[in-house]
Amino acid sequence: MARILITSAIPYINGIKHLGNLVGSQLPADAYARFMRARGHEVMFICATDEHGTPAELAAAKAGKPVAEFCADMWVVQKGLSDGFRLSFDHFGRSSSDRNHKLTQYFAGKLAENDLIEEVSEKQVYSNADGRFLPDRYIEGTCPNCGYEHARGDQCENCTKQLDPTDLINPRSAVSGSTDLEVRKTRHLYLRQSKLKDRLDQWIDSKKDWPILTTSIAKKWLHDGDGLRDRGITRDLDWGVPVMKGDKPWPGMEGKVFYVWFDAPIEYIAATAEWADANGLDDAAWQRWWRTDKGADDVRYVQFMGKDNVPFHTLSFPATIMGSGAPWKLVDYIKSFNYLNYDGGQFSTSQGRGVFMDQALEILPADYWRWWLLSHVPENSDSEFTWENFQASVNKDLADVLGNFVSRVTKFCRSKFGEAVPEGGAYGKAEATVTAEIATRLEAYEGHMEAIELRKATSELRAIWVAGNEYLQAAAPWALFKTDPDAAAAIVRFALNLIRLYGVLSSPFIPDASTAILAAMQTKDDSWPTDLDAALNTLPAGHAFSVPDVLFAKITDEAREDMQARFAGQG
Ligand code: 2FM
Ligand code: ZN
Repeated sequence: MARILITSAIPYINGIKHLGNLVGSQLPADAYARFMRARGHEVMFICATDEHGTPAELAAAKAGKPVAEFCADMWVVQKGLSDGFRLSFDHFGRSSSDRNHKLTQYFAGKLAENDLIEEVSEKQVYSNADGRFLPDRYIEGTCPNCGYEHARGDQCENCTKQLDPTDLINPRSAVSGSTDLEVRKTRHLYLRQSKLKDRLDQWIDSKKDWPILTTSIAKKWLHDGDGLRDRGITRDLDWGVPVMKGDKPWPGMEGKVFYVWFDAPIEYIAATAEWADANGLDDAAWQRWWRTDKGADDVRYVQFMGKDNVPFHTLSFPATIMGSGAPWKLVDYIKSFNYLNYDGGQFSTSQGRGVFMDQALEILPADYWRWWLLSHVPENSDSEFTWENFQASVNKDLADVLGNFVSRVTKFCRSKFGEAVPEGGAYGKAEATVTAEIATRLEAYEGHMEAIELRKATSELRAIWVAGNEYLQAAAPWALFKTDPDAAAAIVRFALNLIRLYGVLSSPFIPDASTAILAAMQTKDDSWPTDLDAALNTLPAGHAFSVPDVLFAKITDEAREDMQARFAGQG
């Protein structure tokens, strides 16, 4: 069995995330983690809140709370929502943790030892109206690359180009809108990542199996030289990891903190240490995931993220790891995603456009969202959420295909044979045929999951559900029962075993339905099938079951229209 380390991009603390954020990293990572665990692999699945930087400071100010208190409160909210969506993190950490402070300072110290840090006197934008230096992302203006008018000073979200605030055309403060900006002098630390260019280039070139989306973004930044510009890794802010060289003060850097993008990916490591601390384990317990000299050499490390995060994970974070000169684990595979749009436009936090995680769970259970989102995950291009499509997917795939199969079989059995798997008859050609079809599809499903091709995986899973329905429709035990009750009993026995199988196979995508199905089948046997014939004989004649509550309620046209109107936003 393999050991698989999985990290999802860590969400900013400053607000509740929308479904586009969820499907761009955490949710697909969860489906993958669940699948790998179900296959018997040892999984460490890590996420956290990304708590530093100006967004956190400003959101706290808006909420009228000290920033530390705001972050602590918001962590509880985000943790509650990730539990609500059944995100099965082994640990959901906080980038403001003591562990992350120490590790971030440690890495900075190592980089300095290896001559990869330079002190630079630079000019920075100061906003007179706001009375503060403005961090890059709080300066807005027109992107010099694509002309997008709301580009941020760190990156243009339209074309993903990494920017410096001084690159922007017509810059203004995103805090107050003021254009009364001036440039002041300040000293900062720069990571000399350009010195690592050749190593990074070779490393990325060696990743022949990475998704094109990931490598194309990485290579673009490497080869136009732009992404590997030496970058400032400190900021004039109060909130963050204080700049230290390991555990020593850093002369001249007093009162400054590390840049949020420097400490955020280090939190993947720190959160694993937080996991060990929370479970009363020693350092060896987390280091075996992260230190190749301490057992991590046989770990496969997979990261999940939206495309805007790719430059930081293919270049900056690997530069930190490589530059440390110490045996830390580098990522083995980066799965990145395009964007999910909302009903003809973009999700917008400021305009309240789209569905946010808390709202989604108020309306419908997690599985409904999980299924739609994962079966429409923007893997190969951007995808779009529409209410019609969501309604159709829930009503057809979940209610008509899976839910109806479970309900029909269990109710028919209860009425004709009672609430136990019926005996009599024997499996014949029809059962062999559908078993063979499912075996082929199961192999494809597993292959797509291994390759993290989630759309293809959901479509095989759906086809496995459909196969059961078609089998049942053709076998028609309700008709056969009148003339040959034993033959009907065999069909129902087979169908009840299919239901259990569906409970197991569906667990990466719709975990609550899976749990309900296995509970109704009164079995704890949720082992992933290795021998399909054996798996379809798990529930023997006489095994008790119960009829579950409706697994999936259909969404009516009226309900859909209400939701459509409610989430149209003000913009
Ligand atoms: O884009 C974002 O939401 C960032 N908070 C992701 C950080 S991922 C990593 F570096 F930790
Ligand atoms: Zn742009």
